[in-house]
Amino acid sequence: MTVDVVQIRQARLKDAAALAAAYEEAWRNAYQGIIPHLSLQRMIAKRGLRWWEGALRKRTPLLVLDFGGEAAGYVTFGRSRLGRSPFQGEIFELYLHPIYQGLGFGEKLFEGARTRLAELRLRGLLVWALADNDPACSFYLRLGGKPVAEGTESFGDISLRKVAFVWS
Ligand SMILES: CC(C)(COP(=O)(O)OP(=O)(O)OC[C@H]1O[C@@H](n2cnc3c(N)ncnc32)[C@H](O)[C@@H]1OP(=O)(O)O)[C@@H](O)C(=O)NCCC(=O)NCCS
Repeated sequence: MTVDVVQIRQARLKDAAALAAAYEEAWRNAYQGIIPHLSLQRMIAKRGLRWWEGALRKRTPLLVLDFGGEAAGYVTFGRSRLGRSPFQGEIFELYLHPIYQGLGFGEKLFEGARTRLAELRLRGLLVWALADNDPACSFYLRLGGKPVAEGTESFGDISLRKVAFVWS
């Protein structure tokens, strides 16, 4: 008998604490030195255990990367915020706890979300990443994403460039 140590599955309420920890560590690691310190602290503080329990109760589309029973990262997705465009699906957030990065798990989460979006009959996929988040941009390029548009995102009184990657 073989047992899968790693699996992509729907999030459960009992994942809330692990997701809050993965979010905090992933955001600190990815955005320190990019997003201004105070804004980053506020965003992390807002996404504590209670926020995650609320999101899970609302049944937000959320898949987790389960490693030995623990949620090591997550992906959220749904209808694209672009409105009418050939890219109907969007990945809103894809984050792994830093100790689980670089092991192929990000790609598993990405493919999991892509499969669910296809099941929802949303064709074409869009993901935004901050332009200064080099590892994320390299990851999406590696997975075949085409950078097609730029925008800005405000954090306090500064605004940062972001890039839209798409898949047909
Ligand atoms: C970005 C992130 C989701 C990628 O997940 P990951 O598990 O580290 O990436 P994977 O191991 O699945 O890599 C998949 C492919 O992308 C490549 N890749 C991943 N990170 C890369 C990087 N920084 N530079 C170049 N290639 C990279 C891998 O080499 C692999 O390609 P290969 O199969 O040819 O070796 C993850 O590192 C993460 O959570 N980062 C912090 C949060 C973040 O920035 N999220 C995105 C916000 S838009």
